Amino acid sequence: MREQLADVSPLLNGYAGSPILVIDDEVSYVSNIEDPRNHWLYYAFKGFGVLRDRGTPIHHFITIATGPGIDAIGAMEILSPERVTVTDLVPAAIERAKKNIARYQKTGKKIPVSFAIGNLCEPLGDDKADIIYANIPNIPIEPERKYKLMDGITAATFFDPETVDGVPDRLNQYLLALQYTFLLQAKKNLTQDGRVIVNLGARFPMELVGELFDKAGYDYDVLYFGFKKQTEPTDTIPGYARYEGDSVTFIYYPYKQAMQLLEGKDVQNIDDLMTIVKSLGISATEALQRSRQGEEMGHIVTLLEAKPRKR
Ligand SMILES: C[S@@+](CC[C@H](N)C(=O)[O-])C[C@H]1O[C@@H](n2cnc3c(N)ncnc32)[C@H](O)[C@@H]1O
Repeated sequence: MREQLADVSPLLNGYAGSPILVIDDEVSYVSNIEDPRNHWLYYAFKGFGVLRDRGTPIHHFITIATGPGIDAIGAMEILSPERVTVTDLVPAAIERAKKNIARYQKTGKKIPVSFAIGNLCEPLGDDKADIIYANIPNIPIEPERKYKLMDGITAATFFDPETVDGVPDRLNQYLLALQYTFLLQAKKNLTQDGRVIVNLGARFPMELVGELFDKAGYDYDVLYFGFKKQTEPTDTIPGYARYEGDSVTFIYYPYKQAMQLLEGKDVQNIDDLMTIVKSLGISATEALQRSRQGEEMGHIVTLLEAKPRKR
């Protein structure tokens, strides 16, 4: 496999002082760097900027499901935690993350980094962090494709439904089962004031966000939000369309039209954003048909900060 390098510093939106080169290959999800606003990490790093502006020191930053490790590199650049732990289910992702972080640290911040392989917070043991960041998949993998889960890229979008249990019905129906499971697990790995930062593509009615955190026992705030193109549409949109039914509809927006409506608008909060694009909302089933005809689809992206309610 040929390893190319990509400069991911545009994702850091001014926080990176110099180029940050990482491996760019078919298992690395490094696409869209030339178009950073359509990359989920752009929103993550905007949110990290909000955390940094608060000035609260961060001792330990954990990223669950790091993929190529760019989230950890951004955390080091923006948040300067005393130490970092990165995890992923897929061993190849951790190998990639190790290489990328080692390359970054030749010139970047030399913060100690630990690596762990496994499902969600399971490999953390009792280790505790001030911030646990997670961008994890939402779509259950079909049984006949399960053998592909560890190939490095499939696990970016799909998860094994056998690893979740006891999820409230509506959260299951709206494909929030892995998010819910993560939230339950993360409680034991947070310090007294610790919080999770969840990067969530909001393709469901927004009240589901409240329901997700409420049922998992957290209070939440929106740290940052935006509107982005659906990347990997051939995997993701059919995944959501498959789970639509009488009582479940996901929400997509035709990307170009939505961007036209949003252009020049002063969008202060998610409600503003939703009001502006509301008339364009379509189901995942319709989005699938239209994207098969070549139309680009977009969705709302949220960076949510949450703190366990009871200690
Ligand atoms: C969309 S990528 C996110 C990569 C990175 N965190 C970022 O924000 O760019 C999702 C990652 O989740 C990992 N993953 C999927 N299921 C997981 C699980 N149950 N536990 C830990 N990692 C998982 C995948 O291997 C993949 O690297």
